[in-house]
Amino acid sequence: MPEVTLSRPSDHVAVIRIDRPEAMNALSLSVRQQVAAIVNELNDDDETRVIVLTGGEKVFAAGADVAELNKRTVLSNQFRLSRVAWDALDSCRKPIIAAVNGYALGGGFEMALHCDIIIAGDETKVGQPEVRLGIMPGAGGTQRFVRATGKYQAMRWLMTGDQIPAQTAYEIGLISEVVPEAEVQSHALKLAEKIARLPPLAIEGSKQAVIMGAEASLPTALAFENKIFQLLFASEDKAEGTSAFLEKRKPEFKGK
Ligand code: CAA
Repeated sequence: MPEVTLSRPSDHVAVIRIDRPEAMNALSLSVRQQVAAIVNELNDDDETRVIVLTGGEKVFAAGADVAELNKRTVLSNQFRLSRVAWDALDSCRKPIIAAVNGYALGGGFEMALHCDIIIAGDETKVGQPEVRLGIMPGAGGTQRFVRATGKYQAMRWLMTGDQIPAQTAYEIGLISEVVPEAEVQSHALKLAEKIARLPPLAIEGSKQAVIMGAEASLPTALAFENKIFQLLFASEDKAEGTSAFLEKRKPEFKGK
């Protein structure tokens, strides 16, 4: 049985589901390889406009597989294994929504932090408990955390490894929305469908400007934003979007 599945519940929306219930969806190397393969495939697939990444209704992912970590050596980490899945998520041009129920801890939360929008349930706990295992976050957990919340919240949570209730995570800017636990999946899907109806090149451009621009100085980031903005004037979807508005009809976007 595959531990990671792909479904296409509606037009232009793909759902990647991690399904390893016996280990609370722990991200073994095999799970990360399967996620990477599917993300790479969807990134190249013109039909896919939005990706939802989930672990289903019980648990998003309880972290890296601790049994594997226990056996892993410096060399295997360093040279072969540590970037599997993360590079694929980092280089995905399309919006990715994390639909998070239950727990997203350690590498599981780092996986959610690689996504563009995080929807969590009101009973969900997130966080980076790695220090309790004698290690620390190694897939962007310290850096994405501090960039989202600032130093004092990052230190508070990273130095204790405490689980963070979803509502607190929302209040400190670490996740996008909190909804009732039973509505996480449907809410994420509706959001994905809404984004999938919008012009894909404009969505892709916005993602690029936010992510790349956040790492540059403001003048450089503004210049970068302006270039992407100008490029969109070459798209058929810009002509369609503006004409449809003026003609008072619904636009039909093609991603061209
Ligand atoms: N790796 C491997 N197995 C895991 C796991 C993990 N990260 N998390 C849970 N499991 C397994 C448990 O061993 C247990 O298996 P058995 O039934 O065979 O004993 C099963 O899943 C159920 O887990 P619990 O009995 O612990 O369930 P619970 O409801 O009491 O607690 C939990 C849930 C709070 C998530 C708890 O399982 C937990 O704390 N898990 C570990 C969280 C963690 O430390 N994550 C960070 C890992 S390190 C990391 O992620 C580093 C990195 O990427 C760089």
